[in-house]
Amino acid sequence: MDQIIVTGNGPLSGDIPIAGAKNACLTLMPATLLTDQPLTLTNAPRLSDIATMTELLRSLGSEVSALHDGQVLALSSHDLTTVRADYDIVRKMRASILVLGPLLARAGEAVVSLPGGCAIGARPVDLHLSALEAMGAELDLRDGYVYAKAPLGGLKGADITFKFASVGATENALMAATLAKGTTILRNAAREPEIVDLADCLRGMGAQIDGDGSPEITIQGVDQLGGATHRVVTDRIELGTYMLAPAICGGEVTCLGGRIDLVAAFCEKLDAAGISVVETDKGLTVSRKGDRVRAVDVITEPFPGFPTDLQAQMMALLCTADGTSVLEEKIFENRFMHAPELVRMGAHIDVHGGHATVTGVERLRGAPVMATDLRASVSLILAGLAAEGETIVSRVYHLDRGYEHVVRKLSGVGARIERVKA
Ligand code: UD1
Repeated sequence: MDQIIVTGNGPLSGDIPIAGAKNACLTLMPATLLTDQPLTLTNAPRLSDIATMTELLRSLGSEVSALHDGQVLALSSHDLTTVRADYDIVRKMRASILVLGPLLARAGEAVVSLPGGCAIGARPVDLHLSALEAMGAELDLRDGYVYAKAPLGGLKGADITFKFASVGATENALMAATLAKGTTILRNAAREPEIVDLADCLRGMGAQIDGDGSPEITIQGVDQLGGATHRVVTDRIELGTYMLAPAICGGEVTCLGGRIDLVAAFCEKLDAAGISVVETDKGLTVSRKGDRVRAVDVITEPFPGFPTDLQAQMMALLCTADGTSVLEEKIFENRFMHAPELVRMGAHIDVHGGHATVTGVERLRGAPVMATDLRASVSLILAGLAAEGETIVSRVYHLDRGYEHVVRKLSGVGARIERVKA
């Protein structure tokens, strides 16, 4: 199994290109199931999660071709051969549940295994299921599968209030509602940029959607959707991750394609920590002026709040801050698994329930560490960039799920990082 070896060194400088968003692409791909016409996605990231979604869609009868080195995905679901999404594929990735709404809307039935994914809490799918039930679907949960059937004549528009603004549940309901009879209103809907990106793509396919990006989305169902070509939005989590590299090591790095509106709450925290972020036509230029960053408190929240997917990376920064920071995780109950690994590198972190108290040290020390999930793995690499000596990160397959060309991107700005076969 591969390992990544990082050797802490001086300031970084240069440009890092930011890819299209994994989480947007994973919800745009299943939108192919809503139409018999071709859907083309450009600016797609090259990741193992995208390969898993490709495998899942192919198992349903969709054609998926990766062109231009994987940056363009040509999808077509002219004929679906089955409506069953099997456990063997679904268990690899929680986002597989996103085929449920589109299958149900187009084919009138779906059998989807209950998902797996990162081990960061219980992560149920009750909100997805109750939204589809409100649209008239009959659901039966047995043998680890959801058996879903739409009423004769198809799903019906409904007035749905989410008890939590779940990203995935909003996406599933939004896709299903595009082909439902009548009007659907989604209240307390998620407002993430990936939702707006999905709505943009669906509108391009002929859907009638208003209010995405706000907590209330209105969808007027149409009889059928057509094809479209859509550019995947910039990955705000990859963006935030690489913005932290110069914040941790010093220097100045421009994240190409970055936009403040995608990471505004995160930028506020960087500013409070003493990191400068400047938006230009090229992207976001990040630099660290002083020797050490200042401690800041962080609470993760649904968008537009501070993203849970940047919490582990932010913790890596705060490990060497001047003072004590408290990070509160409000989205997932078990998302501090990177903390004990950072402690192995000399960090002072005390986890108590949903809070982690981080008392900054002057310098971390390199150590062998283990990636436990996708974002945790990259936080260990960031910490390694700032540490004295060598950090060896194992279980990097987590990283391959969500970061393309990490070694190339970081070594391009002067980091000492390599990938080796263990
Ligand atoms: C998406 C992102 C993930 C990110 C998360 C929160 C994708 C592919 N993944 O995940 O990277 O960390 O948003 O920003 O886009 N919940 C329920 N019942 C449900 C659904 C969710 O209780 O039916 C809970 C979850 O357990 C969790 C919280 O709601 O505690 C947030 O989950 P959700 O917003 O649904 O995240 P995902 O869509 O799974």
